[in-house]
Amino acid sequence: MIVQPKIRGFICTTAHPQGCAQNVQEQIDYVLKQGKIAQGPKKVLVIGASTGYGLASRIAAAFGCGAGTVGVFFEKEAENKRTASAGWYNAVAFEKKAAQAGLYAKSFNGDAFTDEIKQKTVATIKKDLGPIDLVIYSLAAPRRQHPRTGQIAKSVLKPIGKIYVGQSLDVATNTLETVTLPAATPEEIEQTVSVMGGEDWEYWIDALTTQGLLNEGAMTVAYSYVGPEITRSIYREGTIGRAKDHLEMTARRLDERLHKIKGCALVSANKALVTQSSSAIPVIPLYFVLLNKAMKEKGIYEDCIAQIDRLFRTRLYASGPILVDNHGLIRMDDLEIRPDVQAQVQHNWDKLTDSNLAQLADLDGYREDFLRLFGFGLKGVDYNADVDPEQKLPSLSYP
Ligand code: NAI
Repeated sequence: MIVQPKIRGFICTTAHPQGCAQNVQEQIDYVLKQGKIAQGPKKVLVIGASTGYGLASRIAAAFGCGAGTVGVFFEKEAENKRTASAGWYNAVAFEKKAAQAGLYAKSFNGDAFTDEIKQKTVATIKKDLGPIDLVIYSLAAPRRQHPRTGQIAKSVLKPIGKIYVGQSLDVATNTLETVTLPAATPEEIEQTVSVMGGEDWEYWIDALTTQGLLNEGAMTVAYSYVGPEITRSIYREGTIGRAKDHLEMTARRLDERLHKIKGCALVSANKALVTQSSSAIPVIPLYFVLLNKAMKEKGIYEDCIAQIDRLFRTRLYASGPILVDNHGLIRMDDLEIRPDVQAQVQHNWDKLTDSNLAQLADLDGYREDFLRLFGFGLKGVDYNADVDPEQKLPSLSYP
């Protein structure tokens, strides 16, 4: 089958197996080039391990620290003439590379919010690995069925208290558009907090602690976003921001609990990056294209793997105490929020028009990054060659 990108709105409905494998390989190469991470964890669980920040975390743990990893994600296998999702191919490629490097890697494909996946994962950790050193919580999900009440919650991206009207990028036509987002209802806020807040992170930690599966000194880290003034009313002060507040509050509670085993719970505020989830947030892609232009011009642009590699090396596993801000957050967005970067972004944001968009914004870079998420546009991949879309995940047993 010849696989080409098929873009529908902010999603690409096809993924290229070899391209995704190449994407994983490039991330592995990046980490290997930086050298071994001394003091790194040896047994790592990553929840949301197939794409974006979670995949980068799994790669940094395995190839930077030599860790055995267990990954949990929700991806689609190939079916009939449909390719698998990019995260599926990423996981297949990761497991193959881990096996070649002699590293333990097992994956669970299913809904991380269910008790069933938690139990299966925990049972495997108990059987194969023993107590975990690091748990990364990197879920970005549109919905959650509550494991105790059965209630379904959907995450929405809306402002709170007032309607938002502002400019956004129409990624199909590379033109500016005006978006109007109604204010969220109290139920929508509550549901977004249920999906993207910290409750399920805590359930994962409960599931591990009940079985004695957190090592002495174990760390757990979830990812958050703070962002600048431009995105504030739809991100940090919107429904998703409320969920992040909840996540950060959960970290403080988990931190107290983990102190008993000399461990800690932390939230890392990461940089805004093009991932499958972030492309779906209104207004954010327009901010990305301005931000990326500014960061590339200043030579400080980082992608997912560069962010996470730096998180591991200079924060989580550096010698000395872990650097946090006065809200207790690790600030991996330190370069994004640099005053000179934000001044340039704000300056350009204020004077954007359809005719200067291509000059002020990194439109090509955005498209390249977006296509790469699905395995397209990678060097060394022959996109005219026939590929088998059906790729087995080595750690799953097939009938
Ligand atoms: P992503 O879309 O690339 O990855 C999401 C992961 O969650 C995938 O592995 C997916 O399979 C998994 N997943 C989704 N629903 C699931 C479910 N029900 N059960 C099991 N797995 C499920 O997203 P991204 O951008 O890497 O986001 C990860 C975290 O990082 C999120 O908390 C996000 O808010 C945060 N973050 C993202 C930033 C960005 O600009 N992309 C910036 C700062 C923080």
